[in-house]
Amino acid sequence: MKRMALTATALVAASALALTGCAGGERGGDSGTDAAEESAGFPADSTIGIALPDKTSENWVLAGQLFTDGLKDAGFKPDVQYAPASNTVAEQQNQIQAMVTNGAKVIVIGAKDGKQLATQVQAAKDAGAYVIAYDRLIENTEAVDYYVAFDNFKVGQLQGQALLDGLAERAGHDAPYNIELFSGSPDDANSGVFFNGAMDVLQPAIDDGTLVVVSGQTEIAQTATEGWLPENAQNRMDTLLTGSYSGDTVIDGVLSPNDTLARAVITSVQQAGKPVPVVTGQDSEVESVKSIMEGVQYSTINKDTALLVEQTIKMIEQLQKGEEVDVNDTEQYDNGSKIVPSYLLDPVIVTQENAADAYKNVPSLLEIVQSYQ
Ligand code: BGC
Repeated sequence: MKRMALTATALVAASALALTGCAGGERGGDSGTDAAEESAGFPADSTIGIALPDKTSENWVLAGQLFTDGLKDAGFKPDVQYAPASNTVAEQQNQIQAMVTNGAKVIVIGAKDGKQLATQVQAAKDAGAYVIAYDRLIENTEAVDYYVAFDNFKVGQLQGQALLDGLAERAGHDAPYNIELFSGSPDDANSGVFFNGAMDVLQPAIDDGTLVVVSGQTEIAQTATEGWLPENAQNRMDTLLTGSYSGDTVIDGVLSPNDTLARAVITSVQQAGKPVPVVTGQDSEVESVKSIMEGVQYSTINKDTALLVEQTIKMIEQLQKGEEVDVNDTEQYDNGSKIVPSYLLDPVIVTQENAADAYKNVPSLLEIVQSYQ
């Protein structure tokens, strides 16, 4: 990645804004001002900490590789850490604290539990580092500078619409359709946003009787999947099938928040000897893309990790140069203490029908799709 020289205009803008001397705590509205007033820049070969939550989804694994390579190419020293499977929250807290101690200038965090990092991100701020929440919001602290993610509410809306479209296409009968709802881990701020986005589309269809949630479990707490773990989704689906779908009762559709859980739900239904319902997903994981091309899983979402990492590195470069940081949303993400200036990317729904087009810029997935055509 090429680095541009700091322009005179940016310098003038930064120092002019610095003179306004707004208090850091009262931010929220004008993120551009916020960025410029704080940015004095830092050495171009600084250490950048990347704290990622786990490896339960392919996107996190890929993000680690892309950050390592991309930050090196940009001249930085990457320090990429994953929270281990056990004692994950405490370990991630320790990792972030160590990044602060080691002098990282920016710490990018994919939170394991977005509500339990306030102390560590405050320590980062106190040490003069910038904090970027990556993919998952960090909550209840003013010490998070930026949020970079795909538009999570839109992800949910796309999933809800895909479920409706898939039912009309594949259920083999008219409404009403029997469905069940799954959501992600309660410690991930995204889970509620995905679910609310989906319910924005599905609730009217539940209200008018098009959709019937046979178990009656429509509250997010009832639908949650602790730790985003597939075994938890599979167990819940097993229980739902036994309790609400005995005999010939067919399940027509399942809202699944991501691909890992979609495959767990499908496995459960298959093991129960029932026809596979329309199941949504997210992340474009290889096994799910294959499943979609085989006509099993109905949909996924393309959130191109390469684009998200690229945008994050761009923000880091802007901070390094003392420039204004690009954001495109200053309203949606209230973390309980402030509205976090955000850069949101556009997610894309993927079904068998549009897969080739949706992955035209993702060669590894395009190759899979083409192998089925
Ligand atoms: C991410 C999803 C992912 C899930 C589980 C969420 O925060 O946005 O892409 O499927 O975590 O890892």
